[in-house]
Amino acid sequence: MLDMTVKLAGVALKDPVVVASGTFGFGREYSQFYDLGELGGICAKGLTLHPRNGNPAPRIAETPMGILNSVGLENPGVDAFIAEELPFLRQFDTKVIANISGNTPEEYGIMCEKLSAAGVDMIEVNISCPNVKAGGMAYGTRPDLAAEVTETAKKNAGNVPVMVKLSPNVTDITEIAKAAEGAGADALSLINTIRGMRIDVDTRRPVLKMNTGGLSGPAVLPVAVRMVWEVSQAVSLPILGMGGVAKGEDAAQLMLAGATAVAVGTAMFADPYAPLKVRDGLADIAERQGLSAVSELTGGAKPW
Ligand code: FUM
Repeated sequence: MLDMTVKLAGVALKDPVVVASGTFGFGREYSQFYDLGELGGICAKGLTLHPRNGNPAPRIAETPMGILNSVGLENPGVDAFIAEELPFLRQFDTKVIANISGNTPEEYGIMCEKLSAAGVDMIEVNISCPNVKAGGMAYGTRPDLAAEVTETAKKNAGNVPVMVKLSPNVTDITEIAKAAEGAGADALSLINTIRGMRIDVDTRRPVLKMNTGGLSGPAVLPVAVRMVWEVSQAVSLPILGMGGVAKGEDAAQLMLAGATAVAVGTAMFADPYAPLKVRDGLADIAERQGLSAVSELTGGAKPW
């Protein structure tokens, strides 16, 4: 019998497949399709201290093998999440990971304090949103700022593990990973979206109202695998790998590169059942290879 459980920063997941923040809302729509307790974990839509309407439309556009988004962190705010969405998510036998973005390190600290008191299982500190002017990716592209946010989050998160979400829009992602590790992060998640742009050739206007957006989907998988590989060599923190995962083989690649668990995101827009199919595909691969635990895949790549 294959053991599908993994531990991510001390948090026991029933299997390594979680759903990525920003692609699952707060789970209400997907709960019409299946029991959310089938998921290893749920990273909820990114929260800010105060509610946000997000960016003007159009803010989603298709691309070859992916999508561009510039949602701009639309969300009801951390207090509404705690009052209305967390009790809903708590009905299901799965781990709840809150994702937060702040305009200042202090805002990250306040949100961590509130979410820790509310009893989430983990906090994903987003320092990599490419679609907002203040905060967001600004913190994820400078090691000193990444460290400051991580330290403030850790100080205020109590016993709740802090996972820092890294941006691929940097020259050397390992520099940011090391800064987060040095500041006390318990885990890292990567990659967030890659900045991109599409232009309508007839109107000559960018397709997105904000001109640029973040690219996700199968097109980014090789970048994610490369970056997980690099980060896993550079730090000793557990990694939640993501970026273009649509099937078991994609998840297995990220685990072989060094991820402890994986997140499925954009694939769910085409197929709500994608995370369950990824989980089953991962199990098939592990069984085919005669493993007794899926965790044996982590870090198992054999470089030439
Ligand atoms: O625009 C957004 O809401 C995306 C957030 C993110 O990529 O972190």
